[in-house]
Amino acid sequence: EKKRIGYSRKVLYYFLHPKNVGEIENPSVTAKAGSPACGDMIKLYLKIENDKIVDAKFRSYGCAANIATASVLTEMIIGKTVEEAKKIKFKDIVEELGGLPQIKYHCAVLAAEGLKQALAKWDVITGKRQIDEKFVK
Ligand code: FES
Ligand code: FES
Repeated sequence: EKKRIGYSRKVLYYFLHPKNVGEIENPSVTAKAGSPACGDMIKLYLKIENDKIVDAKFRSYGCAANIATASVLTEMIIGKTVEEAKKIKFKDIVEELGGLPQIKYHCAVLAAEGLKQALAKWDVITGKRQIDEKFVK
């Protein structure tokens, strides 16, 4: 893994041309995650059919790195099953973007946390998991 000071070309690309920004009408599940480091927030919307993520959109109230990571994350998960998507860690998102400055890692963690919360809620909705107060808001 490369150490980065500035943003990669890919981060800048996704920041300037973010994919999947917005909301899904009648989403299967949504989740919010906030960053204690900076106070920023992300909201993720997923459409799930037959255990497959068929659409994903997001609203970011964060920085350039958060917009880029959330955007690339939505692209990474569309077409994946719920179980496949659960395996995505923030490091995978960072890698997909060609690296991030280390002080911006928490912005990628925020995006990954949004996904984790959404999939945990989905497991509650589908009865695969007992209700956990933390995830049901
Ligand atoms: Fe503000 Fe990362 S979200 S520093
Ligand atoms: Fe808050 Fe990046 S500094 S999401």
